[in-house]
Amino acid sequence: MKLPVTRYYGSKRRVVEEIWFALKKSRIEFDTFLDLFGGTGIVSYYMLAQGKQVCYNDLFAFNCEIAKALLATPKNTLSESEALALLNREPMVFYDNIIERNYQGIYYLDEENRQIDTIVQNILRLSNEKKACAYYLLFQSCLIKRPFNLFHRKNLNLRINHSESSFGNYVTWEKSFEQLFKQFVNELNTYQFEQLKNVKISNLDALDCDTSYDLVYIDPPYFNNGTPISYHSRYHFLEGLMYYNDIEQKINRKKANLEIGLNCESEFEDKASFSQNLRKLFARYHKSVLVLSYTTNGYPSIDDLVCIMKEFKDHVKVLSLGKKPFALNRSNEGREEVLVIGK
Ligand SMILES: C[S@@+](CC[C@H](N)C(=O)[O-])C[C@H]1O[C@@H](n2cnc3c(N)ncnc32)[C@H](O)[C@@H]1O
Repeated sequence: MKLPVTRYYGSKRRVVEEIWFALKKSRIEFDTFLDLFGGTGIVSYYMLAQGKQVCYNDLFAFNCEIAKALLATPKNTLSESEALALLNREPMVFYDNIIERNYQGIYYLDEENRQIDTIVQNILRLSNEKKACAYYLLFQSCLIKRPFNLFHRKNLNLRINHSESSFGNYVTWEKSFEQLFKQFVNELNTYQFEQLKNVKISNLDALDCDTSYDLVYIDPPYFNNGTPISYHSRYHFLEGLMYYNDIEQKINRKKANLEIGLNCESEFEDKASFSQNLRKLFARYHKSVLVLSYTTNGYPSIDDLVCIMKEFKDHVKVLSLGKKPFALNRSNEGREEVLVIGK
């Protein structure tokens, strides 16, 4: 199946097909599917395309907006001319410059910061359906223009001091918002479904979702041996853009990357309490088939995860999805993606 490109830490785009075949091979029957840690929405997208009834969930509002655009908005809701109109300031309208004022030299060039201010405020005046599409274009553009597609470091200098020999995708970073909006509106209109499918988008903590699904797919943040970097730290800037007028009060000025302290939940981001929180999660959704995505070099170990799941399920098995390098972390060649399935 052709799938949109994702630029997100932990995206399952490369393994979603294997996940589908592993479920089929294990003879797991399901009609309703809860994607608890939905991220890019790519797993939900695949399941919808296979005719399943899906609930996508993620803690971040910006991810839910991306999911709304891709999964729950009909093809061609936003045209190229409407997309490009978002780049210009309307006459007689007051525009604030929150990003330009606060983020000079952090993530983008001055001119780009000003454009982000313009785009967000234009989006706020759109209807709900068009809004989701417009945010999709903005977030994909912001991600592709960032070194490593991340916001946990103030590293605009990688772009400014770029030389031929240095690392990175300079040509992509330098693409204008106009070029990128044309590219992404085209991409969105290609992948959106012609006819809307049976999908619900929810923006809740994973421990608060509805428990009535046949299968619950669990793809939480994972820890390896390095210093943990939270999803919040990686993507706070995009989450901040969802609450534009609150950004200034929420900036942590002690951090060099001016992290925006919105929707910062430590539950599944804290190594010490991770196993305990997984227990709570398995307990809550124990009536459903549980399918946990994990990696062989993660913490806790796969053996420990199996033991935890066995506290709630009689039949637990581990399936390998093969040696797939992790999206955005290709150095990790030896790791294997696995599913821990509890029935
Ligand atoms: C490994 S990623 C999921 C990737 C996703 N399966 C995909 O293919 O794009 C983990 C996701 O969990 C979300 N998350 C972190 N803590 C959460 C929580 N307490 N409740 C719900 N979502 C959470 C993060 O925003 C992130 O998108």
